[in-house]
Amino acid sequence: MIEIRGLTKTFKSQKVLDGLDLDIVAGKITIVMGPTGTGKSVLLKHVLGLLKPDSGSILVEGRDIVAMDEAELTEVRKAYGVCFQDSALFDSMTVGENVGFPFTIHTKLSREEIMREVSTLLREVGLAGIEAKMPAQLSGGMRKRVGLARALALSPKVLLFDEPTTGLDPVMTTAINTLIRQVQQKTGATSLVISHDIKGAFSLADYMALLYNGKIAFYGTPEDFRNTDDELVRQFVEGKLTGPINPIQ
Ligand SMILES: Nc1ncnc2c1ncn2[C@@H]1O[C@H](COP(=O)(O)OP(=O)(O)OP(=O)(O)O)[C@@H](O)[C@H]1O
Ligand SMILES: [Mg+2]
Repeated sequence: MIEIRGLTKTFKSQKVLDGLDLDIVAGKITIVMGPTGTGKSVLLKHVLGLLKPDSGSILVEGRDIVAMDEAELTEVRKAYGVCFQDSALFDSMTVGENVGFPFTIHTKLSREEIMREVSTLLREVGLAGIEAKMPAQLSGGMRKRVGLARALALSPKVLLFDEPTTGLDPVMTTAINTLIRQVQQKTGATSLVISHDIKGAFSLADYMALLYNGKIAFYGTPEDFRNTDDELVRQFVEGKLTGPINPIQ
């Protein structure tokens, strides 16, 4: 579905992505993991076309999005459901308006129909009935789930999640992982999930990729990750692998 080839990105003198290759298989869940600051969010922003690489290509169903202009990108992004790391809710809109936003701009559904869809989505993420609240009134975990509900609107073909469970308690983490799996099974969506939750990743992923030093250092099924004696993977799974240390942040 998505083929990333030779992706390279440097910010000032800092090389974040260094010829990264990754295939995101259609209809499957691929989880990208890696220490903090290794470029996971930067990778996701390239897949969305929000950042342009210095070199490399990103083929989405055979078309290189790196070469696309804003109008073409907007078209491609319609098929994407995105949940950003910081939730990225519209602060001046209610929860209901936030979750309903994709319907408002991309469909001709009536207000009532949209409200019905919104109420179903909120129920799915365990937040039934909070339509009238403002984002500022919510906890971080709740904002995250509202972002998730918005990403699931329009049953997108491609789902991109940046740390969907970070900051949530273990019960809610399991619930969100189960939801991601259910959505993928129900809609056959291609999912790219960025996650720190190694335990969750093992149960959720069809494929896992470890990002380190600007490249995918290891790629395989959860089984491959369990069985490998690759030193980096072992260190990461055991929580010993650290990211780049930047003296100035
Ligand atoms: N727009 C930008 N301009 C300059 N540097 C950036 C920009 N975006 C990211 N970086 C740098 O690129 C590096 C990778 O950032 P990124 O946010 O992708 O890390 P991450 O792997 O998602 O980390 P985390 O797990 O903490 O979310 C960091 O050193 C960051 O400071
Ligand atoms: Mg990040």
